[in-house]
Amino acid sequence: MTLRDYNNIRPKVGKAVYIDESAVIIGDITIADNVSIWPLVAARGDVNYIKIGARTNVQDGSVLHVTRHSENQAQGFPLIIGDDVTVGHKCMLHGCRLGNRILVGMGAIILDGAVVQDDVFIAAGALVPPNKVLESGFLYVGNPVVKKRLLSEAEMSFLKQSAKNYTELKDEYLEQST
Ligand SMILES: CC(C)(COP(=O)(O)OP(=O)(O)OC[C@H]1O[C@@H](n2cnc3c(N)ncnc32)[C@H](O)[C@@H]1OP(=O)(O)O)[C@@H](O)C(=O)NCCC(=O)NCCS
Repeated sequence: MTLRDYNNIRPKVGKAVYIDESAVIIGDITIADNVSIWPLVAARGDVNYIKIGARTNVQDGSVLHVTRHSENQAQGFPLIIGDDVTVGHKCMLHGCRLGNRILVGMGAIILDGAVVQDDVFIAAGALVPPNKVLESGFLYVGNPVVKKRLLSEAEMSFLKQSAKNYTELKDEYLEQST
């Protein structure tokens, strides 16, 4: 039961999506075309919704969750991930907004209300505090994160390449599973 309903809402899955059978995807989650979800990912769209953009990959053991609406926070904190994003192994993405062409290094934690603009590299093991804004074009490292330096041209290209690599890899997995 990789895809599960919650409150009669079933995850919506686009075309050519690969979801490993050990992943658990629950409730109000919209997954765009060509996304890949790798082993042991847990994504729970129960008290708010989750959106995952086209060609994004969510790697092994990552956890995606959200925060409910409250008096102080009318919308709560949904989790919105853009296009061509690489979410490395064992990341925790909670109620945050990620733009396009981002690499979230393995083991990183991103908390409620944080906003990551397009074209950002987040180092392995980083912690992004609540409501922090990470600016486009920079490398962020550490716990809590600091803006370390501008990304090189090569790193900027790698952000898109990483998503492409994973799109190709998931196509191989899809072929082998038919
Ligand atoms: C950040 C990263 C890209 C290193 O890049 P780099 O070219 O070696 O970085 P730099 O040499 O410019 O290092 C910048 C500084 O950040 C530090 N640094 C590098 N990686 C760091 C990390 N993960 N956490 C904390 N500090 C880190 C370096 O020690 C250096 O510190 P200094 O300026 O005090 O010497 C790499 O360490 C990383 O985290 N990659 C993520 C890979 C990943 O998780 N991919 C997803 C799964 S496929």
